[in-house]
Amino acid sequence: MTVSNAGMRQLAGKVAVITGAASGIGQAIASLYAAEGATIALLDLSVERLAESVALCEQEGAIASAHAVDVTNSESVRQVMDTVVATHGGINILVNSAGILDQTPLLEMSEETFDRTIEVDLKGIFTACRWAAPVMVASGVGGRIINIASQLGLKGGVGLTHYAAAKAGVIGFTKSLALELAPHGVLANVIAPGPIFTPLIDGLSEDWKAAKQAELPIGRFGYAYEIAPTALLLASDPGGNLYTGQTLGPNSGDVMP
Ligand SMILES: NC(=O)c1ccc[n+]([C@@H]2O[C@H](COP(=O)([O-])OP(=O)(O)OC[C@H]3O[C@@H](n4cnc5c(N)ncnc54)[C@H](O)[C@@H]3O)[C@@H](O)[C@H]2O)c1
Repeated sequence: MTVSNAGMRQLAGKVAVITGAASGIGQAIASLYAAEGATIALLDLSVERLAESVALCEQEGAIASAHAVDVTNSESVRQVMDTVVATHGGINILVNSAGILDQTPLLEMSEETFDRTIEVDLKGIFTACRWAAPVMVASGVGGRIINIASQLGLKGGVGLTHYAAAKAGVIGFTKSLALELAPHGVLANVIAPGPIFTPLIDGLSEDWKAAKQAELPIGRFGYAYEIAPTALLLASDPGGNLYTGQTLGPNSGDVMP
């Protein structure tokens, strides 16, 4: 059997929930999904910060809604998922892109800094999955979950024990989720990007960035729009049909598992 998608928008009729959608990688994924025909529920800390992303989705002709939520607040996330289902009729795709990053050596790390990173970058993903997955399972038509980790979860980085631990956790979490949900037709995968020019890395030291760039086989950092097509692949049919529990690495060659 051959399958051709020529001329078809790959996510027509799908509803995608995207966390961290006000900026960077989440915003780029929202915009591409919108161009591919999805309805987009954009989640981030405030509705005001989401205005630009809503406008980008609407420019692509998509229906888009903005939802203020802190992904560490389980009750708020549950309420937002309920609102999305009531507004758009379901959830077919969940992209977890909300995240924080700071560089702190272990010898100077407070428990609060460590805990907050784990809370946002790891537990925030659990929380969104906890409340979106039941919707996908109950739908009877499956779904796609795409968790944004980092190549640093595979190789570590100086001053990043907390961040690398959270991102490695996302990879292990997603593999288990993939095993649990495959019988329901819900596929769960990780994207582990290399360094990408977004506001997230503004706070990293220039020395760290220069050293990191020098060790990349491709020789440069990426842009958020270069990550979005991997997220489209994982959400698409048939492109993403055989991926589950995988970690895809658009990382300039930084990690070769
Ligand atoms: N930029 C990179 O180099 C890079 C590399 C690998 C992985 N990542 C990962 O990609 C994801 C997206 O990062 P980005 O580079 O687009 O960063 P970004 O800072 O541009 O966007 C992250 C978004 O997450 C939101 N956010 C933060 N905490 C939140 C919370 N508690 N609740 C809801 N929203 C919250 C922020 O408001 C922001 O809009 C993150 O998980 C990050 O760790 C980024």
